[in-house]
Amino acid sequence: MEEKIRELVKRRDKITAGGGPKRVAAQHEKGKMTARERIRMLLDEGSFVELDAFVEHRCDELGMADVEAPGEGVVIGYGTVAGRLVYVFAQDFTVIGGSLGEMHAAKICKAMDMAMKVGCPVIGINDSGGARIQEGVDALSGYGDIFYRNTVASGVVPQISVIMGPCAGGAVYSPALTDFVLMTDKSSNMFITGPQVIKAVTGEDVSAEDLGGSHVHCEKSGVAHFRFADESGTIAGIKRLLSFLPQNNLEDPPLADPVAPAGDPSALADIIPDSPNKPYDVRRIIEGIFDGGDFFEVQEDYAKNIVVGFARLAGRPVGIVANQPAVMAGVLDINASDKGARFIRFCDAFNIPLVTFADTAGYLPGVSQEHGGVIRHGAKLLYAYSEATVPLLTVILRKAYGGAYIAMCSRHLGADQVFAWPSAEIAVMGPEGAANIIFKKEIEEASDPAAARKEKIEEYKRSFANPYKAAVRGYVDDVLDPAETRSRLVAALAMLGGKRETRPARKHGNFPA
Ligand code: HXC
Repeated sequence: MEEKIRELVKRRDKITAGGGPKRVAAQHEKGKMTARERIRMLLDEGSFVELDAFVEHRCDELGMADVEAPGEGVVIGYGTVAGRLVYVFAQDFTVIGGSLGEMHAAKICKAMDMAMKVGCPVIGINDSGGARIQEGVDALSGYGDIFYRNTVASGVVPQISVIMGPCAGGAVYSPALTDFVLMTDKSSNMFITGPQVIKAVTGEDVSAEDLGGSHVHCEKSGVAHFRFADESGTIAGIKRLLSFLPQNNLEDPPLADPVAPAGDPSALADIIPDSPNKPYDVRRIIEGIFDGGDFFEVQEDYAKNIVVGFARLAGRPVGIVANQPAVMAGVLDINASDKGARFIRFCDAFNIPLVTFADTAGYLPGVSQEHGGVIRHGAKLLYAYSEATVPLLTVILRKAYGGAYIAMCSRHLGADQVFAWPSAEIAVMGPEGAANIIFKKEIEEASDPAAARKEKIEEYKRSFANPYKAAVRGYVDDVLDPAETRSRLVAALAMLGGKRETRPARKHGNFPA
C-alpha cells in the first residue's frame, strides 16, 4: 500500500506541476499566474477540492499520441469564497497553451453540471489558445457542449467569466453567454478573428490589444463588464461581485450589516441644479442613499449615459439603474438600452430588487440611432422592466419626459412604488418644445413673439413640469423631500418582501434583440 500511495503522490505532483518550470516561468514573466495559483488566490484557504485531475486526452493525430498534457490543460473543482460554495474551472496556459480538446471540455462541462446540480455560482478563468487544432471536430464539439450548458444554466446559477489571457475564435462565445465578463488589463484579449486574419481579409493593421483588449471591451464593444489593472485586482473583483449575488435563482442575495450612506442625505437636495438643463453626477445621489461607499458599478466605462450596478440598502443587495445627466444629458440611446436591459434581466433572474433613478429627456434623436435600430434596442428596456417580477422601486429625480417617463420603470411597466422629488418634471415633452408646438399660433401672432414664447414656456412649466399631475393620478405614490428617500426606499423594500407576481404560462417570451 505504501508504495501505491507513493505512486499516487508522484502522479499528483506531476499533474500539479502543469506544463513544467519553464512554461510556468514564462507565464510569470508575462505578469500572469498559473491556473492553480489563481484558484488558490480566489478560494478560501484550504477549501479547494480538485476533480478530474487524472483526465487525459485521447487524441493520436498530428503527433498528439506522445504528448502529455497534465490535467488536460484545465483545473476544475469546488471550494468556497467567503464561506460560500462555488464551482471553478481555470484553463492552464502552460499545458498546450490551455487549448481546448474533447476531454478538456468534458472537465469544464462537469464543473458546470455540478454547479447547476447543487445550485452554486460557476466561475470560469479563461487563458487559452482556443480549440486544440489537432483534435479537430472533437474540440469543436467540446465548445458546443459548453455553450449549450451556458445557456441552460443562464438564470439558474450565476456564471462569471474571467479573461486572464487569450480568448480567441469561437471560445469567446462562452463568456458572451455568461452573466459577467471580467478582464485583466494588458494580458487579456478577446476576438473572433485575430490580427493576422483581419490583415489578410480586410487589410486592416491592428494589435491584439487594440483589437480586443480590456479597454476595447469595457469602453467600446460592451462585451466585458469589469476591468482591473492586474490579476490580484481581478480576483478581488470576483469576490466583490459574488458578495452581492445569491447562490442560485431560488435563493435571496446575502444580507450584510446595514451601514449609513457615504454621502450626507440632508445634502441630497443641493445636488440637483435649479436649471433643468445643467448636469450633475447621479453617483453623488447614489452615495447619499445607499449603504456606505459600496456601489459596485457594472460597465462603468460603457454607455456612460446610464449607470448600473450593485449596492445595499440597509444591508440588502439591490440593483441600481440610473440615468446619468453628467453624460449626454442622461439620454437613452442604443447602447444605454442594451446595458440597462441586460442588467435588469440579471437582477430579476436572481431575486435582486431594482431601484431606478430617472432624469432623462428621452431617447436620443438622430439618423444613426434610427438606422442603428433604436426602436428594437430601446424596446429592450421596456421589455426587461415589464418582465421583471422582483420588487421595483422608482425615484423620479428631475426630467421624465415622454417615452423616457415610461421606460425608466414607470408604474405602467410594473413599478411597485414610484416616488418623485419636488424637482421632478413629468410630461410628454420638455417645456421649450411643448410651448413651440401647442402655443405656436399665439407666439407667432404676439406683438413680441420672444416675450410671448417665454411666458408660454413658464405657463407650461407651472402646469406640467412638476410631479403633482402624475401624483394626482396615483402614478406617483408620493412626492418626497430628498432627505427622506433612503428611509422610504428601505420601508418599501421591507414592505415588498413578500411580493408575489404570476404571469401566464408560456415557454418563453421573445425578447427584442
Ligand atoms: C493547439 C496550441 C493552440 C491551439 C496554442 N497552442 N494554441 N496548440 N491548439 N489552438 C500551443 C502552442 O503550439 C504552444 O505549444 C503553446 O500552446 C503556447 O503557445 P505559443 O504560441 O507559444 O504562445 P504565445 O506566443 O503566447 O501565443 C498565444 C496565442 C497563439 C496567441 C494564443 O498560441 C495562437 O495564436 N494560438 C492559436 C489561436 C487560434 O487561432 N485558435 C483557434 C481559434 S478557432 P508549445 O509546445 O510550443 O509550447 C476556435 C474555434 C472554436 O477556437 C469554435 C467554437 C465554435
